[in-house]
Amino acid sequence: MLIEEVVRWLGIEREGLPRRFALLDCTLGGGGHVKRLLASDQRFVAAVLDQDPSAVQRAQIALGNEVNRLCFMIGNFAELKTILAGYRTRLAGLGVAFDRQGAPQFDRILVDLGISSDQLDAAERGFSFAKEGALDMRMNPGTLLTADEIVNKWPAGRLLAVLREGGVGAGASAFVREIVKKRPVRSTLELAEICRKASVAQRRRAGKTGPVKKQHPATVVFQALRIAVNQELQSLSSFLAQVLAVLAPGGRLAMISFHSLEDQLVARAMRAWSQPPVEVRNLPQSGLLSVPGELLTKKAVVPQAAEVAANVRARSARMRVFERFGAVCPVEGV
Ligand SMILES: C[S@@+](CC[C@H](N)C(=O)[O-])C[C@H]1O[C@@H](n2cnc3c(N)ncnc32)[C@H](O)[C@@H]1O
Repeated sequence: MLIEEVVRWLGIEREGLPRRFALLDCTLGGGGHVKRLLASDQRFVAAVLDQDPSAVQRAQIALGNEVNRLCFMIGNFAELKTILAGYRTRLAGLGVAFDRQGAPQFDRILVDLGISSDQLDAAERGFSFAKEGALDMRMNPGTLLTADEIVNKWPAGRLLAVLREGGVGAGASAFVREIVKKRPVRSTLELAEICRKASVAQRRRAGKTGPVKKQHPATVVFQALRIAVNQELQSLSSFLAQVLAVLAPGGRLAMISFHSLEDQLVARAMRAWSQPPVEVRNLPQSGLLSVPGELLTKKAVVPQAAEVAANVRARSARMRVFERFGAVCPVEGV
């Protein structure tokens, strides 16, 4: 998603922002977004988080000039509240406000899901089916489960469930049959080739003769494995259950997803925060029921054609933005 679109929807450059703002970037990656956000106003401070320690290390170097305005945190956003509690002193030192329950309050929260270009480009981490590497796919190398374990050790039924839950459609069982036949699968390129052959054989069996899809058949298989290795959907659900507690009144949350499974979770949560529960929605007094805020993007924001042309990875990005009701409170302490 084009950074300027994120800036626009976060309302960062609105006229008359009165004071210092607290930002929380839960997916720091290469630090590109936070760098742009900090550059828009000297009064902004930011807490930045990534579960990949090497991403945080690199961003610390890249954002070296801004360290006085930043709190770097390593961890999984599934543990958001616990992580923030561990950095309480630093956050207070930056001037982030806390509510009565002791939760830090952020005016703008950004989540840019998925993997970073750095992770995809590092062949040895196993995210890319186009580069020779180990079947790893962990965003946090400190966790135990790898793609190798799933591909080579899990029973066929469990592997099938991983592919189906990760969005592989009708061809999932053909991929599983071929993978199980070729075990042990030693590398990313080997797995990609197995997927390609399974897809060709399946087309032949189905009597399909039309043009072959542009997308490599391994794309969805790698995505499903990565989702399982990193427990991405579970982490996202856990995050969504916590994030409102740290979004300041009047604050905005922008979330960018790259596949429909994530986007559905985000859309469902933001709609639920913007509407009274289904059971009471049609009652006459339902308009009087308070909800936490408003979904600002009635439809997901998608990248412009020019952005997709310049960066094919952006083609499936979807951004949704939620605003919490309430007045914007001043950030204390600085
Ligand atoms: C798409 S990149 C973010 C790119 C970033 N916005 C930038 O400007 O460079 C996603 C990042 O989020 C991190 N990430 C993904 N899931 C996470 C999670 N559950 N907790 C913390 N970090 C996560 C990944 O390690 C990766 O570095």
